[in-house]
Amino acid sequence: MSDKHYNASYLEDTGRFLKELKEYSYSAFKEVASGNVIDLGCGIGLDVIGLSKMLGDGVKVIGVDHDQLLLDKGKESANGSPNVEFMLSEATKIPFEDGSVSGVRAERLIQHLKEPEAVFAEINRALNPGSPVVIVETDWPNLTFYNGPTAVERKINRYLTEVKINNGTAARKLTAYLEQSSFSNIRIEVFPFVLKKLADANQYLWTGAIIEEMKAKQELSSEEYDSFLSALTNADSNGYFSCSINLVVASATK
Ligand SMILES: C[S@@+](CC[C@H](N)C(=O)[O-])C[C@H]1O[C@@H](n2cnc3c(N)ncnc32)[C@H](O)[C@@H]1O
Repeated sequence: MSDKHYNASYLEDTGRFLKELKEYSYSAFKEVASGNVIDLGCGIGLDVIGLSKMLGDGVKVIGVDHDQLLLDKGKESANGSPNVEFMLSEATKIPFEDGSVSGVRAERLIQHLKEPEAVFAEINRALNPGSPVVIVETDWPNLTFYNGPTAVERKINRYLTEVKINNGTAARKLTAYLEQSSFSNIRIEVFPFVLKKLADANQYLWTGAIIEEMKAKQELSSEEYDSFLSALTNADSNGYFSCSINLVVASATK
């Protein structure tokens, strides 16, 4: 499994799964009529394209990411759209003048950052006063399995939030980050997602790959791995597999 908790095909899969949430997160930008809106940590550009369709020709949507391969995929999908652009940059230092940007959106970026506060300060620096910021995050500590042994579930949560993902508790800190960076009109909304099939948990949450990685790193014993997997497989074949996770949408204005 990749060192990172995502790759291009994972972003495509989760993009389909999160389509409605993504579209909902665009609504804060509806009033933007001109200038540049940035999708920070844009990955393969799904939301750059989604936002540009909603905003029309008066606004340029710029996808910023530090991964050139993902940006190339975005460029390919945008297929020369005139109001779309992609830029290679670290989120801590984006190439925009102070107060020059009309909106910033960042989905599932903050969880990967070692210096989240610096990125919030950078977003605030680049935004035009009165302009919106929207952050979408996965609440990893809230990942819940309703069938396997609870002790193993706790180990999975700890591994994800303390080992695998740099800032695994980011979803719970968004309002604090926004406050610290002097944003106003801070709002937070929580959206629960329930997965009823083990195949979906494997596709959208990489459950199978995570427990395998944990076993290989001796974060789970073979017995823990076997008991968890067989409980989940058994629940799945009997039609009562269930796991859930919350996603958080935080919004504010500069
Ligand atoms: C889980 S993906 C989410 C992608 C996209 N926002 C989406 O919802 O499909 C996280 C993205 O953040 C980018 N990223 C992570 N750390 C970054 C950093 N320090 N600067 C810029 N981009 C970063 C990754 O390259 C990746 O594309």
